[in-house]
Amino acid sequence: MVSDLFKKNFITEDTWSKQELDTVFEASFDLKKRFALGEPHRLLRDKTLFMIFFEQSTRTRNSMEAGMTQLGGHAHDLTADKMQISHGEAPKDTAIILSRMGHGIACRNCFYGVGNKYLEEMAANATVPVMSLQDDIYHPMQGLADLMTIFEHFDKNPKGLKVTVSWAYADTHSKPLSVPQTQILLFPRYGIDVTVAHPKEFPISKNIIDKAYKNAEEGGGSLKFTNNMDEAFEGAHIVIPKNWGGFGAYDVDHYLQNEEECKKEMKSNLGKYKSWICNDKRIKLADKKVKLMHALPADRGNEVTNEILDNPDISIVFDEAENRLHTAKAVMGLTM
Ligand code: CP
Repeated sequence: MVSDLFKKNFITEDTWSKQELDTVFEASFDLKKRFALGEPHRLLRDKTLFMIFFEQSTRTRNSMEAGMTQLGGHAHDLTADKMQISHGEAPKDTAIILSRMGHGIACRNCFYGVGNKYLEEMAANATVPVMSLQDDIYHPMQGLADLMTIFEHFDKNPKGLKVTVSWAYADTHSKPLSVPQTQILLFPRYGIDVTVAHPKEFPISKNIIDKAYKNAEEGGGSLKFTNNMDEAFEGAHIVIPKNWGGFGAYDVDHYLQNEEECKKEMKSNLGKYKSWICNDKRIKLADKKVKLMHALPADRGNEVTNEILDNPDISIVFDEAENRLHTAKAVMGLTM
């Protein structure tokens, strides 16, 4: 157990050692038990967290705000349009000012090529911990909840577990790469064998793949890729069918200079892959005791059928969503 995580930024698990992450999980299980017992745990009494959302959120916003209340503090639920950010105030200035008024800053900014840089600039200038609520590269709070859920349903040592992270069709919006990228970086550090499936036009970013292979080598897990969803489902213990946009196909500078053109291309590519759905036929290819995970919101009937998502023998998505609360509280409790 690591005792000195005070003021440590949480933008990606990749800057946290395995021992530090294990400490977060230990705290998460403890806080989950205390929550279930109704035992007060006001570890952050009178402390303030500033949350800045550039995008919509249900799980992240409410796990953080409810979490702060349960820890005895308060979270400001801010959006960019409520702040001078909308008039161009720099992330550096925002971070310095909020640091003088409270005890933590959290931000969601998923704009491709922009979000992670925004968070890193805040972190470089804040004197309080900066936490990511999701950016264009990472979704670390989601990664923690995912792994906690795996520990609960399988084993705290998930070595050898086969997890399929699969692209799936959705027509709601171009979802960021941050969820699958966080999963492929994090899971192999715990010995998990990850298979990633995606159509060729919807790749993971090359630099993340390189880092994920390195993590797998160090952590004893493995990583492989396929363009065939059926093949990826064969024998899987966990399947995670989720849409992501085709951002990984574009160099960031190229994307930012040709945004409308890239978006049009992604939309046209998307239409070719409506058959990429997690349905009964595909679930039958997986292990007999297969579990479905999904960060949510799920695009029902596109990413996954209602039949699978609502099957209590298969779907553990609501446990996964609940664990967003306990893991978020652990991060805030340890760093603030
Ligand atoms: N999984 C997740 O981050 O959900 P929200 O977008 O609702 O926060």
